[in-house]
This record gives sequence, C-alpha cells and structure tokens, in this order.
Amino acid sequence: MRRITALIAIIIILGLLTTLFVFSIISKLPGAYSMGPAVGSVANMGSMDTMTITHSVTDYTVAQCSGPTDNFTLEATEVQSGSQTLNEYNGSIPGPELRVKQGDCLNVTLVNHMSEATSIHWHGININNAADGVPGVTQDSVKPGQSYIYRFYVKDAGSYWYHSHNDTLNQLSKGLFGPLIVEPTSGTDVAHDYYVTLYGNNMVNGSSGDVPLAAKPGEKVRLRVLNAQGGGSAGDPVNVALLGASFRVVSKDGTDLHGPQQISNQSIQIGPAERYDLEFIMPASGMVRLIDQQHPETVSIGDGAVPVVPATLQPFDLTTYGTPAADPIADRTSFDASYDLHLGNHVGFYNGGPAKVHTINGKAAPMDMPMITVKEGQVVRLRFINDSDEFHTMHLHGHHFAVLTVNGKKPSGSPIYSDTFNVTPHSTVEVAFLANNPGVWMAHCHVLYHAYSGMMFMINYEGVGTPFKAGADYQNIPE
Ligand code: C2O
Ligand code: CU
Repeated sequence: MRRITALIAIIIILGLLTTLFVFSIISKLPGAYSMGPAVGSVANMGSMDTMTITHSVTDYTVAQCSGPTDNFTLEATEVQSGSQTLNEYNGSIPGPELRVKQGDCLNVTLVNHMSEATSIHWHGININNAADGVPGVTQDSVKPGQSYIYRFYVKDAGSYWYHSHNDTLNQLSKGLFGPLIVEPTSGTDVAHDYYVTLYGNNMVNGSSGDVPLAAKPGEKVRLRVLNAQGGGSAGDPVNVALLGASFRVVSKDGTDLHGPQQISNQSIQIGPAERYDLEFIMPASGMVRLIDQQHPETVSIGDGAVPVVPATLQPFDLTTYGTPAADPIADRTSFDASYDLHLGNHVGFYNGGPAKVHTINGKAAPMDMPMITVKEGQVVRLRFINDSDEFHTMHLHGHHFAVLTVNGKKPSGSPIYSDTFNVTPHSTVEVAFLANNPGVWMAHCHVLYHAYSGMMFMINYEGVGTPFKAGADYQNIPE
C-alpha cells in the first residue's frame, strides 16, 4: 500500500514538473515576431476587416533639418562600478540635459559603445514615427559599435526625457536616460529653471544625499520633477513635497495646466515616467526644499534655514486643481472608437521563466497583444480599468491624451493632458486622444517590469506597417 502511494505521489510530481516545464518552454518568446502589420502585407487586425498596408513607419522620417537645428551626440557606454554594471550617456547618470527651443529640429547621433544593442526613445515628444526609437517597430536596434541618427522637430514646449527602449527594463534601470527640456518660443519669466530626476533606489540627479541648487530671495524658480524610476514590482510611485514656499503646479507631462493656484504642504504622487513642473518665488529668508517621502534624498534651493517637515501633508489632487477651461477633447461626449483595457496580472511563465505576468484584457504582449487600429482624424477613447493591487502608469507613444474621468468623475479643475498617467490600484481612468500622428505606436505601462512581462499594446494607424521585426534574432527587444 505504502509503495503504491509513493508511486502515485512520484507520478503526480513528475506530471506537475513536466507541465511546468512545458509551460515554461511554451512561454519562451520566438526569435522573431511582429509588433504590428508588416509592410507590403494585407493585415488582419483580429476583426473582420483586413487592410492594405500602403505606408511604412519609415515614411515618417525627417530627411533633413531645416531652420534652427540642435546637434547632439549621445555616447552609450558600459561602466563597471563595483560588482554593478552601469550604462551611461556621455559618462553620466542621468545623461546630459538637452535644452532646446520650441520648433527646433533635433539631430541626435547615438553612438553605441556597449556590448549590447540599444536605442533611444524620446518620451513625451509627439514625434514623427520613424524617430520614436522602438526596436522592432520603428527601427532595428543600434548594434555594438554602430551609430544611428534621430531627427525630429519639437513642436511643443515642456519637460520631456529620453531613454533606451531596447531591453528597457535593464538598460533604463542601469542608467540610460536623461532630461530633455523644450523651452517655449514665448520665453519665460523664471530666474532659474531646474530639472530634477528621481532615479534608482534613492538618487536625485544621479547622486545621493542633498542636491543644492542656487536661487536668491524673491527670484522665481521652475522645478521640473521627473520620476525616472522603474517602479519596482508593484509600480510604486514616489511622493514628493516642496517645503518652505507656496508653489503652483504649472505643468504635467509637458502640458501647462490652466489657472494653477498657489498651494503648500501638499504631497504630489508621481508615477514612473510622469513629470510635474512646480513654480515658486523664493522666500525672503530660508531655503526651499524638495523631499521624497520614502527616501532620504533632498533637493535644496537657495540658502538659509531648512524648512521643517510638517506633521501632515495633504495629498495633491490633480483632478480638482487649477481652473476649468473649454477643451475640444475632454468636453466630448461621443468618440469615434472606444476600448476597454483591463489591467491585471497573474503568476505564470514569461519568456521561459516563472514570472508575474502582466496582462491587458487577460492577454500578455507581445504574443497575444491588443492591436488598436485608428484612422487619422479620429478621436479615440481608452478606458483603463485597473483590476489589480498594483500601480500602472499607462503611456502612449507619439500622442498626448486628455483625461476624461478618474473613477467616473470629470476633472473639476484644469483640463489634464498626459503622455503617462498613474492608474492607481483598482481605479478606472478614461482618456481620449486625437489620432493626428500617423504611424505604428507602442503603448504600455511604464512600470518597467510590467511592460517587460506583457503589459503593452499597439496603436496602429490604418494602412501603416513596419518592415522591422522584434525578437532576439534581431536583438530587437522593445521592452
Ligand atoms: Cu518612456 Cu515606451 O517609454
Ligand atoms: Cu503596470
């Protein structure tokens, strides 16, 4: 009897192991796969309709800059720091601050000195598709020893950033990112304009401790704050507070807020890849300090007494902030197309190993990925329904979307435009965008592990295809 029980137990265990093994093998991504309709094909977009591909992503190339041009070179390197390998642009983390004028043409040469293929994505820029930097979608990755030119116009002023989009989970985490500021043609009235990047476990602008920034009493300061962190496994945002002065939140993801009021002692939650621009006047005495509530790092603006951290900080609510204004997208009640996107996760296998798989409508990209086909000129509504306990900062390439509702409520303050929006656990966020930038565009959660383990989808303009293939065979690893 004992023997039979033991035998049955062994058979069951072997069976389970075999099943796990098979699932792990099945979950392995193929060496080559498509992220969008292929050029020259008739694509079946999952529904009834098939469409003829008449344009390639490479049609949306800026062949030559005309007018004011900014030339930059970004050299990607691998640096050994103790047992860690870091990746840097031009020898620093973050990479150099690129500061340009609205309307300029950027001509950027990426030189890859690393032992891995790479690329650059220009996060938040409503860019021409060919310069979007997604390997396997808009280009082939830039192989070791090669270089690549990105050429694009920056139509909109604001706080943006750039980062690797090849094996992003690893390369961005290791340091391949930097700030990009587009100054408005109208000019500004600030005395100091600083970009602060929160990155890694507890690093501000790539250093630990306190970062001092100069400003004198009475001067106006703009502080652009980017959360460049990967969000860990649960998508954790950062919570920052500006102490020592009242301030205004003037811009989110490169779009100005309408009628921003003075606030103080509020804590702003910033999801991975989101940017908030703060403006304030330096007080007559004492410094102004930016704190991160979870980390010891600080940014100190000006000199003098350190502001005390109040016992309580009210959470900043973007959806009630600023003053209302008419908006062509946010005020709409009808849309050309609407999609519900349920954000979830489950324990399983991904690319040959055990993983927390991240899904949209139960499907994990890239093998099983929602493809949304849009026509130029349409206004498309997306409803993100977060069914999970995690944060998901949903990001759309090439477009900014208007926030229609958060948990069913229309924002009561300023219209809100974002390229990345923090969809908090179990919340629902409805957004809409005008399809005015033809191409094949990636959209995904900007929590790096979530995107890596399946949380992405594609927005394909009707008739546009890509000649590129993703997959290890091409060293094109879009996430
Ligand atoms: Cu900042 Cu697709 O990413
Ligand atoms: Cu996520």
